[in-house]
Amino acid sequence: MSLGLVTAAYIVAAILFIFALAGLSKQETAKQGCYFGMVGMAIALFATIFSEQSSGFFWVVLAMAAGAAIGIYEAKKVEMTEMPELIALLHSFVGLAAVLVGFNSFIEAGNVDPEMHTIHLVEVFLGVFIGAVTFTGSIVAFGKLNGKISSAPLQLPHKHKLNLASIVVSFLLLLLFVGADGSWFALIVMTLIALAFGWHLVASIGGADMPVVVSMLNSYSGWAAAAAGFMLGNDLLIVTGALVGSSGAILSYIMCKAMNRSFISVIAGGFGTDGTSAAAGSEEVGEYREAKPAEVAEMLKNASSVIITPGYGMAVAQAQYPVAEITELLRKNGTEVRFGIHPVAGRLPGHMNVLLAEAKVPYDIVLEMDEINDDFPDTDVVLVIGANDTVNPAAQTDPNSPIAGMPVLEVWKAKEVVVFKRSMNTGYAGVQNPLFFNENSVMCFGDAKKTVDDILAELKK
Ligand code: TAP
Repeated sequence: MSLGLVTAAYIVAAILFIFALAGLSKQETAKQGCYFGMVGMAIALFATIFSEQSSGFFWVVLAMAAGAAIGIYEAKKVEMTEMPELIALLHSFVGLAAVLVGFNSFIEAGNVDPEMHTIHLVEVFLGVFIGAVTFTGSIVAFGKLNGKISSAPLQLPHKHKLNLASIVVSFLLLLLFVGADGSWFALIVMTLIALAFGWHLVASIGGADMPVVVSMLNSYSGWAAAAAGFMLGNDLLIVTGALVGSSGAILSYIMCKAMNRSFISVIAGGFGTDGTSAAAGSEEVGEYREAKPAEVAEMLKNASSVIITPGYGMAVAQAQYPVAEITELLRKNGTEVRFGIHPVAGRLPGHMNVLLAEAKVPYDIVLEMDEINDDFPDTDVVLVIGANDTVNPAAQTDPNSPIAGMPVLEVWKAKEVVVFKRSMNTGYAGVQNPLFFNENSVMCFGDAKKTVDDILAELKK
């Protein structure tokens, strides 16, 4: 393909990527957004592989076949609850790719136009730096999300000073690198510092802040791809990287607002627990009452308004289908049923919305936290299905709690609250939930799918 044709194909692909992002912003159009993205990517790959500048056709096809085989296998077997881990792992690949592209472009720096030489060196240095930070940061995020690395924040002494020192030393190495017209020493030392910096940045962040970290790494991976685009002189990679980088940054901003964290301190890496909020507080703080499914069914029969607040446990148990059936049944009997969705419920943005849409719960009764929070005092029964941190009143009442300040669903204000979980164990943030010991709360123990199925059977009787 001639250069003109390749450029035209790249423009079409870039427009399709923008349509894809626009589509993904709404549940109703998300599928369409995915199709736009897929077609855009197919056009981009085709144009790149068959462009007259491209070489090594055999190797490209071989690498793509191997990558596609692994990708299809992994995507088919991954559970919905494991998606954030997979995404974190994929981000690490983008970071590693940017590092390798950087080293490769440095080795081939002789082919670059002499006038562009200094700019090229800066591109290489920045590309490798962002790539290395993304690589190790994403690996730590992967480990924390699947429990291989402790979710408690790493508390090295002077951790903020260490971060600052990494950036300052890397900047001095950049000056050395450019001044010496390319120095392997500066490049390798900076790579090692950036790898350690990325590791430390994410390791020092506590469990409850992981949603922000995942979206932040999403943004970093975009900038790493854009940097690779500059090094390779590939315009589409620059545009795509910038789209991912900026949409990831917008998502991080939305997440920060939802978690009541400062956006600036997040991108500076100086957030999470400061050692003041201990990860302790997991011991029980009173007596709790238990209710069997038959009793819960009775409560639901007598209620005229019900709010369901799902969380990670509903996803694990795959309880969304019986939950949808209960909803339908109650609505048929004239009960008002709505869902309250916390922005970080589950393990990935929009997790609960996807599950409920899968079970065909009507969109108009699925409300965001801000839309429903004022309605709890007028609600007869709240069903907290596998949620914990997102309904924890300690976020408002205990300034030392690791989740202090995080907006939560104020379920305790309803007349009766039923909590579905298997034990008195804590949620993701590792803090005990005083809600369980309130006088208007009851615990319905067991796997959420089983207990909700039992309630459904009782209601159908
Ligand atoms: P969590 O606080 O994680 O609590 C989930 C609860 O579900 C647990 O207490 C667990 O208790 C229960 N559970 C697990 N499996 C169950 C099953 N099969 N049946 C019944 N219950 C089950 O959930 P949440 O309220 O959704 O909060 C989400 C947390 O994850 C927040 O801390 C958030 O910051 C974090 N996070 C979110 C994201 C995003 S982007 N959404 C990403 C990473 C981390 P038992 O063990 O007693 O059953």
